[in-house]
Amino acid sequence: MEACDLLIRNASEVVTLAGAAPRVRAALDRPEVVVQGAVAVAGGKIVAVGSAAQVEARFRPAAVLDAQGGAIVPGFVDAHTHPVFGATREAEFDMRLRGRTYQEISAAGGGIFSSVRSLRAASSAELARLVHARFDRFLTAGTTTIEAKSGYGLNREDEIRSLEILRDAAAEHPLEVVPTFLGAHQVPEEYSAARSEYLDFVIQRVLPEVRARRLAVACDVFCDQGAYTVAESRRLLDAARRQGFALRVHADELAPVGAAELAAELCAASADHLCRVSDAGIAALCAAGTTAVLLPGTVLSLGAKALPPARRLIDEGAIVAIASDFNPGTSYLLSMPCVIAIACTLLRMTVAEALAAATINAAWSLGIADRIGSIEEGKQADLLLLEHPSHLFLAYQLGENPVAAVVKRGRVVYERPALEIRR
Ligand code: NIG
Ligand code: FE
Repeated sequence: MEACDLLIRNASEVVTLAGAAPRVRAALDRPEVVVQGAVAVAGGKIVAVGSAAQVEARFRPAAVLDAQGGAIVPGFVDAHTHPVFGATREAEFDMRLRGRTYQEISAAGGGIFSSVRSLRAASSAELARLVHARFDRFLTAGTTTIEAKSGYGLNREDEIRSLEILRDAAAEHPLEVVPTFLGAHQVPEEYSAARSEYLDFVIQRVLPEVRARRLAVACDVFCDQGAYTVAESRRLLDAARRQGFALRVHADELAPVGAAELAAELCAASADHLCRVSDAGIAALCAAGTTAVLLPGTVLSLGAKALPPARRLIDEGAIVAIASDFNPGTSYLLSMPCVIAIACTLLRMTVAEALAAATINAAWSLGIADRIGSIEEGKQADLLLLEHPSHLFLAYQLGENPVAAVVKRGRVVYERPALEIRR
């Protein structure tokens, strides 16, 4: 028998998502399930996945984890988050319920601007404490990897400080972080009459430092009505690409400004939101292979006025991922099981499609699908034990955490405490 570090046994099913990456069209709905499966882990990696009988006969494990008849799925990969912020903005949520729009609140100095004021005023120790606590919440909801953006500093010092806080938090937490620079989340208030100067400053002074210090691998911009124009975004993204950054774009959420077309033109890794994407934008994303990252929690939180065209994107062959967009303004939601459920009920994705979009396709958009996003021999052992016997419960049961245990790099990093009160 072969030695291994950990054997996970007694699973009703292992949803492997093995094979093609990224998954498009019909393959997105083909999760590759091993019934009555087991997974063997050694050195932080998956060394075998298959039927329980085969795997258990082959390995002598140092430790055993009993799935207790639940399903095993890959750890969630959240490809769009904004976890570095100070104060929450629940009052704005209430204002929206009372009829004010997101744009009105922003134009009155709220929205992103209020989070910028709050972040600039917060100490690094306080921000680090908040980020660490948020990382804990991601992990217990089954997210094992996040893309994480700066974007509430909007000056050199506070953007860099945000990225440093992400780096330091990731170094001491099991959650894996892929950092993105979002210095063009909005035009800072102090530059409202000199927009172009701010972009010059970012391109010439901030991006090179971020790159040299490896504080971010991607550059993002909010390209939309009330934020950056397509021309401004093109200038920034083109410069970022030349400096070696991958590109991500907040695209066509509020108006069909042509941001998806721009993302495709520049071969961006992702175009995100897409609630108002045009037909030409959909075609361009498909042709370029730019991942469409849909954010169902944001759609729900903003009142679901325009839905991103998930079915059309899938049918036309786009690479589709889903993410939380966790942020204090438009999506104070980081549970990927909830995001999956909303993608199914609101965007009409199947559970299998939503699960692939939340794992392997999300990893693809981050350039790490060779290592993360599926349960296959040779991949990093990032996986979840669910309390239910089928992955279908991820959407069927909305609003409760179905995650019983989380394994990251082969280590059990979270186990749900047993219920203390039984009646
Ligand atoms: O959803 N779409 C743009 N902006 C952000 C929300 C930021 C905020 O309101 O704080 C987003 O990603
Ligand atoms: Fe966002």
